[in-house]
Amino acid sequence: MIGVLVSGTGTNLQALLDAGLPVVAVASNRRDAPARERAHNRATEAFELGDYADRGERDAAMASWLERQGVRLVVLAGYMHLLTSVFLDRFPDAVVNVHPSLLPKFPGAHAVEDQLAAGVAEAGATVHLVDEGVDSGPILAQERVAVLDGDTPETLHARIQEIEHRLLPRVVGELCAR
Ligand code: GRF
Repeated sequence: MIGVLVSGTGTNLQALLDAGLPVVAVASNRRDAPARERAHNRATEAFELGDYADRGERDAAMASWLERQGVRLVVLAGYMHLLTSVFLDRFPDAVVNVHPSLLPKFPGAHAVEDQLAAGVAEAGATVHLVDEGVDSGPILAQERVAVLDGDTPETLHARIQEIEHRLLPRVVGELCAR
């Protein structure tokens, strides 16, 4: 059973739902994340940092909530906070992230802009296991996309997201079957 962590729009969450994967819970670090509306009748909860003494306490509460929903695999789908070991130790080798670059190149929150600024000919998307670093951890799958003349952050991100919406459900499906 899958728990999805979100912060933003949630198009990757939608791709997991559309693929029929067993998403049972959606957690967010922001109460107002639009992605939460996609959860419909599934369990959903917000874990805002400001409601806890520190990051570790928040992550412990979020891990406990996910466990109570029966979650065994956690997917970060546009979740914009780092997870501490407090969280990761509760789901060993079972936390995956989708990132809009060909990691290990261009980690971080501005990967699409950074790829354009660097003038690369190829961008892409990566699905990887999560550790405590920024977009580090073993790579599970990657797919490339050409950068076109005149690409803006919006047009390039849109083409990368088309890849993400195929790649993430495929890899998550494979992990569910293991
Ligand atoms: C995706 O591009 C993902 O790679 C990055 O954040 C974006 C989230 O988009 N980590 P969405 O919320 O799934 O629409």
